[in-house]
Amino acid sequence: MDTYTLSNGVRIPVIGYGTWQNDDPAECVQGVVDALNTGFTHIDCARAYANESLVGQGIRESKVPREKLFITGKLRNSAHGYENVKKEVQATLKDLGTDYLDLFLIHWPVVEGHKDDWNKDNLDTWRAFEELYDEGKLKAIGVSNFSIPHLRNLIDNARIKPMVNQILIHPGVLLHEDTIFCREHGILLEGYSPLAPLKVLSKDEAFRKICENHRKSAAQILLRFVIDNGALPLTKTVHRSRMEENIDVLDFSLSPEEMAYLNSWSHPDFTPRDNMNERAPQKLDEVIDSH
Ligand SMILES: NC(=O)c1ccc[n+]([C@@H]2O[C@H](COP(=O)([O-])OP(=O)(O)OC[C@H]3O[C@@H](n4cnc5c(N)ncnc54)[C@H](OP(=O)(O)O)[C@@H]3O)[C@@H](O)[C@H]2O)c1
Repeated sequence: MDTYTLSNGVRIPVIGYGTWQNDDPAECVQGVVDALNTGFTHIDCARAYANESLVGQGIRESKVPREKLFITGKLRNSAHGYENVKKEVQATLKDLGTDYLDLFLIHWPVVEGHKDDWNKDNLDTWRAFEELYDEGKLKAIGVSNFSIPHLRNLIDNARIKPMVNQILIHPGVLLHEDTIFCREHGILLEGYSPLAPLKVLSKDEAFRKICENHRKSAAQILLRFVIDNGALPLTKTVHRSRMEENIDVLDFSLSPEEMAYLNSWSHPDFTPRDNMNERAPQKLDEVIDSH
């Protein structure tokens, strides 16, 4: 599997298997087993998905040795704050059945629209990330859903810069300034929900032509769009045939004209997020707190 190299030298497989909305227990476990046997080596998890122990079971059942895997975890919204982080990481490690994480992310920032001292709050949480990184429990640390002011706060005031920012990436939502900012600061962008506009784009004549040019499916073109923007796609499916399709995106590239078309494509249903002011979905915490 091809890799990107993070700013601290850690190598990360260029595509990852997502575990969000893998709610059915048997399907979740089997999904992880199939993904790892199909060739995915990078699994994106989160405490808020309320399925870490099922994902852990899938990892064990796949029989793939731990050292061959890249496992990402995320800090849920209700566990922000220096004191909480260490307890949370312990629980995540236990449920996933591992003694370290390859990458750990702040799932959502505290935002301006939520709290005046959002910057202090995010820094306090990040200080615990830095300590766990120093201890070797977290091999790399990063953030998710951070806007440029959130990132700047950590870059200017923290000891260690985030190595990753995981955000929504697909045609219509990726902001050029986010790409430039992260590139300048050595932060790898990971893209979640890359297939969101699949149905809409499948009816678009120019998009269909791009699929034909490469003899690739609509999903494969959308995953390649993320990679050709220098980012890392995360994708989820419970169907083995789709896993095989989704991982088969490393043998072609989109042309500059095709990328220009997709980067400028717009649709009223798919607009960039305001990560500076929008509160994180509270639903995610309700799910886990009820367990
Ligand atoms: N940091 C964050 O806030 C955040 C937010 C959202 C997601 N994420 C992470 O990113 C991962 C990916 O995002 P996502 O789950 O929205 O992924 P996605 O891959 O964009 O979309 C998944 C959906 O597409 C379907 N699908 C998958 N492959 C397909 C294919 N080849 N053809 C047609 N349909 C296909 C899946 O259905 P089937 O399962 O039925 O195949 C599922 O309904 C998540 O699982 C999670 O790990 C992070």
